[in-house]
Amino acid sequence: MSLLQGKKILLGITGGIAAYKIPLLVRALIKQGAQVRVIMTPAATDFVAPLTLSVLSQNEVLSSFTTPGKDHAVWTDHVALGAWGDLFLIAPATANSISAMAHAKCNNLLMATYLSARCPVMIAPAMDLDMYAHAANQKNLATLAAQGVHVLPVASGPLASGLSGKGRMLEPDALLSELETFFGHTAPLKGKNILITAGPTYEAIDPVRFIGNHSSGKMGVALAKQAQQLGAEVTLIIGPTAIDLTTLSCQVTSVTTAQQMQEQVMAHYAATDIAIAAAAVADYRPKIRMDQKIKKNNQDFQTLELVATPDILAEMGAQKTHQFLIGFALETTDELAHAKNKLKSKNLDAIVLNSLQDPDAGFGHDTNKITYIDKDGNSTPFDLKSKDAVAKDIFSQILKNYA
Ligand code: CTP
Repeated sequence: MSLLQGKKILLGITGGIAAYKIPLLVRALIKQGAQVRVIMTPAATDFVAPLTLSVLSQNEVLSSFTTPGKDHAVWTDHVALGAWGDLFLIAPATANSISAMAHAKCNNLLMATYLSARCPVMIAPAMDLDMYAHAANQKNLATLAAQGVHVLPVASGPLASGLSGKGRMLEPDALLSELETFFGHTAPLKGKNILITAGPTYEAIDPVRFIGNHSSGKMGVALAKQAQQLGAEVTLIIGPTAIDLTTLSCQVTSVTTAQQMQEQVMAHYAATDIAIAAAAVADYRPKIRMDQKIKKNNQDFQTLELVATPDILAEMGAQKTHQFLIGFALETTDELAHAKNKLKSKNLDAIVLNSLQDPDAGFGHDTNKITYIDKDGNSTPFDLKSKDAVAKDIFSQILKNYA
């Protein structure tokens, strides 16, 4: 998977001739699965058509503080834009815009967004060789670098002025690799294989009935997406779910029963670095699965005889060599004590406690409330959050523990 998959790139374009190359970068970013929102300075719109960028980025292109509304102008929320991005790339960055950035001169939407952005900022300077070399410009670049802006180098070669030298914006390909390198560094799980179980299992009674549970698979899917965001190679083994799995870009294996889930898990386990068991596996299955539908008046089937299913997580714990193993505990009483028991008895490195006592948490909801318990029994409770945000919290805890 591309390191840019799912990344939110805020792309600022300022008024330099190199702006004509940016549509190629936008196209490449979209191809790699990134989301792109373009902000242009008014001068940039003379060099490249906003329409082109809007079509390629599949988003509206913004360049002014307000847009005409039905009765009155509508404000463009630059603060929300700044909060949206994982990275703000300004390319090309002209000497004028670099100076505005260094001096907090908020004279257009792009500058307002820069000043309010909370995400990392990267700039690709582009200007004539003497402008680039000018002491005042170099001082501005040094100021920005000292403030934490990632200042990219310039390339050497023919310039719009007819002169030749240092000042060309990096080509779109080179910009793309700079972004990949940037996200590579922020991908702490790059090269790691992560195995995640999710969803319920269904244990058939007859061709139309089964033993199952209310698990939706949402928590496991959120974990899979977050693991990918952190650069991991993810294998998701998931029971029956209403989630559209075709939108996921990790390796997905759909299963129905606990037995099938166990077979798939164990087939991947040796090559796994981190395993997270988020599935709500049925603990029992009917001893006999009837080939035909059991009729209402069949006196032989008033009682269902059950046998235990394999405890997949316990088996992973028993066969652990190098894996970092995380389980979930779904409890309704004595939550912490039960969760800590499972942590020990299944030989886990951490356990995530879900309490069904918490409203809006657990099965079926889009939100969850968890407590993360590490190997030493230290517990960290979290607030009720979206399952995506919970997945982030879980991985931030895993990264603290995982060497
Ligand atoms: N689990 C598993 N295989 C099973 C049962 C559970 O892999 N057959 C895993 C779950 O994915 C979860 C953890 O074990 O990560 C705990 O599941 P939970 O249902 O809370 O507990 P159980 O072990 O089933 O114990 P109990 O039902 O007694 O609470």
